[in-house]
Amino acid sequence: MVNFLIFGPPGSGKGTQSVRLAEKFNLLHLSTGDMLRAEIAAGTELGKRMSAIMAKGELVPDEVVIEMIASKIDGAKGYAGFLYDGFPRTVAQAVALEKMLNQRGMKIDCMLVLEVDRDELVKRLVLRAEQSGRPDDKDPAVIDNRIEVYREKTEPIISYFKEKGIYQPVNGVGEIEDIFHRLSDIVVKYLN
Ligand code: AP5
Repeated sequence: MVNFLIFGPPGSGKGTQSVRLAEKFNLLHLSTGDMLRAEIAAGTELGKRMSAIMAKGELVPDEVVIEMIASKIDGAKGYAGFLYDGFPRTVAQAVALEKMLNQRGMKIDCMLVLEVDRDELVKRLVLRAEQSGRPDDKDPAVIDNRIEVYREKTEPIISYFKEKGIYQPVNGVGEIEDIFHRLSDIVVKYLN
């Protein structure tokens, strides 16, 4: 099983590209954001507790998402690999994921990093706010906070993985299809 991280700030296209990559390469798409939104939609106790944190653009506690990921990995069968979207988001989550994979005889093989400038991110999220019901897209101050939280808490993971030689930067600006080809060209090398 090959383990890919898809990484980048809010609005960089992680979700958009993950769906396509998962389908093309038979990967299990694991989005902690989607899992948390599913908890909220289902009205679970966990969802209720997490929704206030997410609405502010802050990160939910590490242990919540680590547990969610572990249960998904253990239940997965028949995939060529895993694609983690929006996880890990702190160095502590990165360390926990590595440990979890090592215990199961795997490792993180590749970190795909979508590079998109701030103006483009804000433009995309403001546009999505008009179309989607995501509460964290509606308030520009929350969008700013999400980008700030990314810079402060999530971006340090890049240096952590650069040292391990798995860092693969990808230009995330342009047509969705072109970006998909850039990503696919990298992914295919790990699967052959
Ligand atoms: P999460 O769901 O992970 O959201 P995010 O990181 O804020 O990312 P987005 O979904 O906004 O952006 P994306 O990069 O996936 O881009 P997308 O493809 O959607 O997390 C939400 C919240 O959950 C967090 O704030 C946190 O509270 C919590 N959370 C989740 N995981 C957590 C974790 N591990 N630890 C702690 N807390 C966690 O694209 C964005 C828009 O741009 C779309 O409208 C799309 O159509 C458009 N678009 C995409 N590509 C292009 C392109 N090339 N050109 C033009 N438009 C484009």
